[in-house]
Amino acid sequence: MAPTARVALASSSLLKSNQNVISAVATRASSWWSHVEMGPPDAILGVTEAYKRDTNPKKINLGVGAYRDDNGKPFVLPSVREAEDKIRAKNMDKEYAPIAGNPEYCKLSILLALGDNSEIVKNGLNATLQGISGTGSLRIGAAFLEKFFPGNKEVYLPTPSWGNHTPIFKHAGLNVKQYRYYDPKTCGFDFQGALQDIAKIPEKSIILFHACAHNPTGVDPKPEQWKEIANVVKQKKLFPFFDMAYQGFASGDVTRDAFAVRHFVQEGHQIILTQSYAKNMGLYGERAGAFSLIAGSKQEADTTMSQLKILVRPMYSNPPINGARIVTEILSDPTLKAKWLKDVKGMADRIISVRTQLRDNLKKEGSTRDWSHITDQIGMFCFTGMNPQQSERLTKEFSIYLTKDGRISMAGVTTKNVEYLAHGIHQVTK
Ligand code: LMR
Repeated sequence: MAPTARVALASSSLLKSNQNVISAVATRASSWWSHVEMGPPDAILGVTEAYKRDTNPKKINLGVGAYRDDNGKPFVLPSVREAEDKIRAKNMDKEYAPIAGNPEYCKLSILLALGDNSEIVKNGLNATLQGISGTGSLRIGAAFLEKFFPGNKEVYLPTPSWGNHTPIFKHAGLNVKQYRYYDPKTCGFDFQGALQDIAKIPEKSIILFHACAHNPTGVDPKPEQWKEIANVVKQKKLFPFFDMAYQGFASGDVTRDAFAVRHFVQEGHQIILTQSYAKNMGLYGERAGAFSLIAGSKQEADTTMSQLKILVRPMYSNPPINGARIVTEILSDPTLKAKWLKDVKGMADRIISVRTQLRDNLKKEGSTRDWSHITDQIGMFCFTGMNPQQSERLTKEFSIYLTKDGRISMAGVTTKNVEYLAHGIHQVTK
């Protein structure tokens, strides 16, 4: 072939391949998904992604609420390890769980919440099913209320509330509204504000409470305040929905942390309750939780349960088995349960102790601000009172990662990093 012909052939095949590329690009531009816009990172879980990219050896992740030991390492509870050994020795199968999950697990979960002598459980008035940790259990509750709640399909959340509450309820088609809860002036509970707002909520609406260790503020009502709230909720004929993600984790005592839930039930409120074992058993990735509603009769517990199963089946069919086995092993064996209660107390106590250390170190740094809320607040989080600019500076200048609302996970604070943390906080708040 003459050189000119070869050049012509080569350029024509180049042209063809270019056309292919152009048409592939054109095809992609008119793809089914070209209209999908980039979404923002998750306000809580996105913080961990940013933390992982940081190469500063002094970096601290105080974003997500996940417990760490005093070396800053994830912690598997000794009682959980023991339960796992026992399960392994049983050589169990991997069959599907029933739609509502493991029945023994469900019974043990509601007893943990309401107490071993609960009349509700004795009389079969609870419809309890295994949920996919706290979020999945909340989502079941939201779906059930959207379909069957006979009042206003409006959920009133405390201001502020856990960042995922609003999306969960909205995703199920419910309206979300707010009541006052946190007082930025005192970094404490706005009891009067909450009572005033709750009294204004239209009758037969849904109100959500954090049973203990309020997320993100760490601010809980006192028992006497819970009693008054329960009265107003009754007068206003509101429907109470309790999210209990931290039983035992707040005070170190599972009974004390269940006060609000048990009080409302004793007072005759037909609550909905969601539970999670992510924090109090450290089973974050096992996704073990529970959903319960209190019915008016045994028959109503059965009818509501039948409908709950119908809602669950198309969402995820049935729940995962492993975490539920661990929980069942622990809660059904009194010796192992006692060890677990000790483990929970150990975690709660470590958090309480680093709260004091953080406060002391801020003082040592020379901070003249009132930091008493650090030790007054309870549970996994401290709502520091830092504004978004201060929170951002803490991340940019000190590689200390937290959510923009100034919430820090106390579970990520250790005896080794508390001084550096106090230094950073003082620098951005002085
Ligand atoms: C948190 O608030 O950090 C935890 O409850 C984890 C989560 O899923 O948001």
